[in-house]
Amino acid sequence: DAPEVVAPLLLGWYDAHARRLPWRALPGDPAPDPYRVWLSEVMLQQTTVAAVTAYYAKFLSLWPRVEDLAAAPDADVMAAWAGLGYYARARNLLACAREVARRGAFPDTEEGLRALPGLGAYTAAAVAAIAFGRRAVVVDANVERVVARLFAIETPLPAARPAIRRATDAITPAARAGDFAQAMMDLGATVCTVRAPRCQLCPLRSACRAQAQGEPERLPAKAPK
Ligand code: ADE
Repeated sequence: DAPEVVAPLLLGWYDAHARRLPWRALPGDPAPDPYRVWLSEVMLQQTTVAAVTAYYAKFLSLWPRVEDLAAAPDADVMAAWAGLGYYARARNLLACAREVARRGAFPDTEEGLRALPGLGAYTAAAVAAIAFGRRAVVVDANVERVVARLFAIETPLPAARPAIRRATDAITPAARAGDFAQAMMDLGATVCTVRAPRCQLCPLRSACRAQAQGEPERLPAKAPK
């Protein structure tokens, strides 16, 4: 199927089924605060939505703005982070907050965000799309799975990553790029799951090559260890 059919189908589904997560605007609302988007995306790396929710609320109540976080003593931030794991993320979080406070605002482009301390390719793309509406190509593990199945990409991971990135680029719309990225994440988390995907509920079923071929759960293939 043509790549252009994907975004309208997916965004229609998102309007009805988006998970109401605390860091999200409702579909169609004005873009949320970049600080909130950035904080949630850093916390969500390697940590589940369920685990992040309470920490996200705690950080926002302690430090409602990026300037507040930037001014916090290191030890307070490390203590508030305790339990989330991957403590390098907390150190990078603070370094990044201080740089943003020094500059006066978050950069509003993917390249500008990428230049901040500790901000990787995924986070820069996610914040550019969700907070600033930029047409960035946002690929996490959920998106990888959805795209590998949609295009029946048989190459195993991690070798398939460049092809998956190109395919994601081809289906990413110019409008509502942030909703599109989060819709792909939600589809991967709730419908296009690792085992037993719920293809009957999938808005992309008619466009999905793995579904047409049968056994969509086979993809993405993993290289033998
Ligand atoms: N995982 C990483 N970012 C996310 C987001 N914005 N929504 C849901 N899950 C996510």
